[in-house]
Amino acid sequence: MRVPIVAGNWKMNKNVAEAIAFVNQIKASLPPASQLETALAAPTLCLVPMIEAAEGSPLKLMAENCYYKDAGAYTGETSPRALYQAGIHHVILGHSERRTYFHETDELINKKVKAALKNGLCPIVCCDDTMGRRVAGKKVHWVVSRILADLHGLSDDEICHVTIAYEPSWAIGTGDSADPAQAAEGCYLIRQTIADMYGDNVANNVRILYGGSVTTVNINSLMAKQDIDGVLVGKDSLNPTTFLQLVNH
Ligand code: 13P
Repeated sequence: MRVPIVAGNWKMNKNVAEAIAFVNQIKASLPPASQLETALAAPTLCLVPMIEAAEGSPLKLMAENCYYKDAGAYTGETSPRALYQAGIHHVILGHSERRTYFHETDELINKKVKAALKNGLCPIVCCDDTMGRRVAGKKVHWVVSRILADLHGLSDDEICHVTIAYEPSWAIGTGDSADPAQAAEGCYLIRQTIADMYGDNVANNVRILYGGSVTTVNINSLMAKQDIDGVLVGKDSLNPTTFLQLVNH
């Protein structure tokens, strides 16, 4: 049974005081994690104070990125080992904004995924897609090759700790979500690729999320799809009332 997830991705929004106030406002209203997992990815600076504020609640805190080295002379990077030691057990890797603005390649993302897993972090690996590729009929090749490259070399045991997010860049931050059928098709393609790599049993247990302009209006129709196990929400996760509406969809 795949437990559904509602996860927010705050990106580079909120300061420490705002992050703590947000957690205090939502923490008593979250469902048990056995029913629905709730998570927030926040700027690194906010994570430790958020863990303290969330203590005793089912809210999971996630980093939005990390490096693939545990320590060393890598100015400005965040160590996956230090994240784990600080109580962060989840990290988003390969987000479309990291690929686009920071030129992250599949090779780098694959190294980060392996380093995260080695340090006990569960990665949410994002798989992009563009409207141009969709219209040109190239999305299948694109999605499959991203998954093959980003997850290359992971063992059966490691893949069980990975969550994948299908996030078409034409839907991110545009207010123009993929419709439920398009979103489900992307997630299905990813699950089939995992099945080809690891077999049906593993594929049926890996959770696959959809992200891109998810709102309180479209969440129900997206989550109703069989291959969509949850959502990764940007803009509409920034307001505590809206986030709780998404959680209680
Ligand atoms: P929006 O919900 O703002 O489109 O952002 C989606 C996203 O990038 C989640 O990672």
